[in-house]
Amino acid sequence: MKLDFISIGEVMIQLNAVSPGPLRYVKYFEVHVAGSEANMLVGLSKLGFKTSIITRVGDDEFGKLVIGFLRGEGVDVSRVKIDDSAPTGIYFIQRHFPVPGESTVFYYRHGSAASRLSPEDVDEEYVLNHRGVILTGITPALSSSCYAAVEKMYRIAKHNGLDIVFDTNIRMKLWRDALRARTALTPFLQSKIVFTNNKDLEVLFPGEHLKEAISKILGKGCEIVVVKLGDKGAAAYDSKMNEYRIEAFKTPIIEDVIGAGDAFNAAFLASIYRGLSIDQALLYAVAAGALVVTVRGDVEAQPSWKDLEVFLESFKGGVVLR
Ligand SMILES: Nc1ncnc2c1ncn2[C@@H]1O[C@H](COP(=O)(O)OP(=O)(O)OP(=O)(O)O)[C@@H](O)[C@H]1O
Ligand SMILES: [Mg+2]
Repeated sequence: MKLDFISIGEVMIQLNAVSPGPLRYVKYFEVHVAGSEANMLVGLSKLGFKTSIITRVGDDEFGKLVIGFLRGEGVDVSRVKIDDSAPTGIYFIQRHFPVPGESTVFYYRHGSAASRLSPEDVDEEYVLNHRGVILTGITPALSSSCYAAVEKMYRIAKHNGLDIVFDTNIRMKLWRDALRARTALTPFLQSKIVFTNNKDLEVLFPGEHLKEAISKILGKGCEIVVVKLGDKGAAAYDSKMNEYRIEAFKTPIIEDVIGAGDAFNAAFLASIYRGLSIDQALLYAVAAGALVVTVRGDVEAQPSWKDLEVFLESFKGGVVLR
């Protein structure tokens, strides 16, 4: 029996400010395990899918935490390497400053164990044991060996007919230069499902209208493009360029919006792979995204199917019933 999804990427320790405001005044930080690829896998695992990760962690306490946490969430960690010459990456989250309702990340990940991921970490036989690969624009930005590793995974999937899911997830703090990001990430747009947002489309297709950019991606053989619109919801486009739109749920609290996109992706994918319609997948996806913004940490509030049903029951027309 094949496993469902495999991904490759850095899993870090997230130190999330317990109080809002500039980090220099924050006294307490809460420890979480996070990373876009791992977040999606955990989300899928909560929705009943079998998932695996390829990564490296340091031979340190945080590396042990990452492995134990992912294992606990049901992600296969048999291909996580422990590197005794580099640390597990960490990052901090500042909340509600300088923009209320938004969060800012500060990375301390340069030279981390995961930045040394390389093609030798991508075991072809193991990858082929899965139905689909999930790739993001973050891992290729970490180092040239990380880029090569992602490229290898993409090639293995393409040549062997595995489904490829790609989230553009462009992090300018890592790329620094839009042209670099565009050149590196454009080849991965030839995936079955592409998740993106307006900001990333502007980097990938500068000066082009949203619809033009989307039809170009669909023209590369992609079956569904999903454009995430933050607190405005999301839109999806199928290969015939039919548009599906949904509004975001208004949550009573916003603790930390980071991680919403990954939860959204997990619920969307889980729905599509369960055979649900794009409309239904979008509904579950915005529900999952809304749940995650109500807590600190990226994965703790990711829902099960049961949680999604209970959540949706409590809402009418996108407004929370109080
Ligand atoms: N403030 C919010 N309130 C309610 N729902 C939200 C909010 N922010 C995000 N969401 C939900 O989560 C989904 C994904 O969020 P977002 O658009 O920020 O993801 P993203 O494009 O992956 O972001 P990132 O640039 O961080 O990778 C949205 O489509 C929306 O449904
Ligand atoms: Mg994202």
